[in-house]
Amino acid sequence: MELRPSKYTDHKKVGNMNISYRFILCSLVVTAMLFPTQSVAVSSDAIEKQISQLLASMTIEQKVGQMTQVNLGVIIDKSVKKHVHFDPEKLNMALHKYQVGSILNSTSRALSVEEWHEVIKTIQDEALKNDLSIPVLYGIDAIHGVTYTKDSTLFPHNIGMAASRNPELVKKAAKITAMEARASGLRWNFDPVLDNGRNPIWPRFPETFGEDSYLVTSMGVAAINGYEEDGLDSITAVASCMKHYVGYSDPQNGKDRTPAYIPDVVLWEQHLPPFKAAVEAGAATIMINSASINGMPVHANKYLLTDVLRDQFGFEGLIVTDWEDVIRLHTRHRIAESPREAVRMAVEAGIDMSMVPHDFSFADHLLDLVKSGEVNEARIDRSVAIILRLKMELGLFDNPYAEPGAAKNFGQPAYRQLALDAALESMTLLKNQDDILPLRKTAKVLLAGPAAHNLGPLHGSWSYSWQGDVEANYPKTTQTIFAAFTEKLGAENVETMAAEPAVKGFGSPGNYDIEALTERAANVDYIVLALGERAYAESPGALDDLNLPDNQKALARAAAATGKPVIFILTQGRPRIIRDIEPLAKGILLAYQPGSQGAQAITDVIFGDYNPAGVLPFSYPQYTGDILPYDHGVLAEIQQLKPSVITYNGYKPQWPFGFGLSYTTFEYSDLQLSKSMVGENDQLEVSVLVKNTGDRAGHHAIDLYVSDLYASLSPAVRKLRRFTKVHLEAGSSKTIKFALNREDLEFVNADLQRVVEPGEFTVSIGDLSETFRFQ
Ligand code: BGC
Repeated sequence: MELRPSKYTDHKKVGNMNISYRFILCSLVVTAMLFPTQSVAVSSDAIEKQISQLLASMTIEQKVGQMTQVNLGVIIDKSVKKHVHFDPEKLNMALHKYQVGSILNSTSRALSVEEWHEVIKTIQDEALKNDLSIPVLYGIDAIHGVTYTKDSTLFPHNIGMAASRNPELVKKAAKITAMEARASGLRWNFDPVLDNGRNPIWPRFPETFGEDSYLVTSMGVAAINGYEEDGLDSITAVASCMKHYVGYSDPQNGKDRTPAYIPDVVLWEQHLPPFKAAVEAGAATIMINSASINGMPVHANKYLLTDVLRDQFGFEGLIVTDWEDVIRLHTRHRIAESPREAVRMAVEAGIDMSMVPHDFSFADHLLDLVKSGEVNEARIDRSVAIILRLKMELGLFDNPYAEPGAAKNFGQPAYRQLALDAALESMTLLKNQDDILPLRKTAKVLLAGPAAHNLGPLHGSWSYSWQGDVEANYPKTTQTIFAAFTEKLGAENVETMAAEPAVKGFGSPGNYDIEALTERAANVDYIVLALGERAYAESPGALDDLNLPDNQKALARAAAATGKPVIFILTQGRPRIIRDIEPLAKGILLAYQPGSQGAQAITDVIFGDYNPAGVLPFSYPQYTGDILPYDHGVLAEIQQLKPSVITYNGYKPQWPFGFGLSYTTFEYSDLQLSKSMVGENDQLEVSVLVKNTGDRAGHHAIDLYVSDLYASLSPAVRKLRRFTKVHLEAGSSKTIKFALNREDLEFVNADLQRVVEPGEFTVSIGDLSETFRFQ
């Protein structure tokens, strides 16, 4: 792969950059080239001096330009599909007239690494021709891998990563994503999603780490460390962008970008903690929730953006809006009577950069607001300083192009292995009646269902296109489940529904042909149905019904009617309700959206080359009208189904949070607490013995819960406070230790304070529990 040398120093204009600053940066680059994975801390004094100098020489027009982010589509000729064709007039408008600070996104397809280098070069060449030579910050959605670079490695979506209970895996995947992004010349990634997945019908549920705040926090922080820990100027890092702050994931009607009504105690208990932790972990940037909470659009919410995020959490990084969300304060939310008023509100609330993204209206209105005195110039200086600082920290002022040495970090064979490990660790076995699984490799199998021949369902959103549903965009080497089955069993042992391409598309009638299914089942030992969801992203993924569609259920019924044992593989980002067909399957494997190596991972589990260990990061509902997270309030446990009969089974999901089977069995014993009385500054040690009681080795995830038995606000039944994962050989056992602190006992009280109240608590692991008092 061609390495593109820095062109920066060839350029005539080097702006107002002073010699000593350039010298510092040059020596940093040399060091970075020698030690490509190490971060090189740029002296913050040098950066602050440079920012002041730049700010002093910038016009208001240049400042509002820096706060403007436009879509790539604004500067290219979109009618040219084969390559990225820049339109000189549009380029001139964006990069010279408005001097925008940032550009985002791709064309409708993924670009090759080389194409990206060209795109970045064209943009930066133009930006550097301006008198101040401020480079452009390019932002991209590299979600579960580098979405928009051809042949990049795509990992399972977060919902599957959370099932792995392995933050180290999340961190490693983020680092590979950072390296493949940086290899493409991209340094700012709009990831990770820290939205707490409280509402499984929400179409962005697959992008979440599930329904538990602690799990979201642990995994989210691991992702941020993976993206940033080498230092933003390293070729192995990108600036992360935690999103979407805050309360996006629990809309009233379950649809994308619709109002949420969230009580403050819930916001503070469930939704804010992952963001607070991400700020503490040093996340460079944040993106705002497009929707509203309690009627107030978050983009205009000064309390959340400034009082909480900046002042209480101490966030000093860049606040970027989401797509078109400033003008939507006028066009959709209707809290601003004009687009100009919308700009005033969002800036007043605290945003630094507007993802406009189709025009320059934000810059025009902001300029006008500053000139008229309605927005103070000092206010925009604060945002511009933040933007310039990030550009400097990312090394863009030194070399805004794809960096030497970065391209070799693309597509390394080891990444495929990690994608496979991640997919394997996410696989969650939900049912295994009579130990039907693993299947014999000598078996004859009919593999049917709409996900058998498709790559979209294995990958979900943000996969070489926004929706992930363009099969032609997937690398030729990516296997379908059918291809992986044939590789494992031999083509002669795998029956399928029809010859391709009759069954290629998720909706192809050939996938639902009951007659063909019945006929082809005649000579096989098992029927494996690959069911679930087509690929979808954001609003187009909206559902009115969480049930698995009827045509898939009909297929399951027809399969069961043949009398052959039936296995379901569920490739889905959301828990689609299957209560009525669940009894028809002897085995059920939940694969989520497992990414590039998903087909192999599924096949390895089905045929026993891997012993599954994933556990649910959400409560898998049984009924559409009964969607309840595991950490519901104690009152939700109680049901009065007849006038005088009380039962205590209010939580009755199909499968509970934390559920997942293995091909071996594990037993817990000897749960011990180091104290029965815990004081303010005490640490409570918890130990438990875990034994592999089956006959094969396996990984096992262990979730530890704490319950506060009485509290001034009716408590949750239990809360996840720690998790870990062990590997145990058959028959072996291990003592696992956890340490709990005061903050693991806290809850948010009616005054929105995190408190621990004296009283009784229990710690539980599996079916064991022990009690202690806090005082
Ligand atoms: C999504 C964001 C994404 C942005 C840029 C928006 O529609 O909500 O998650 O980062 O587009 O593509």
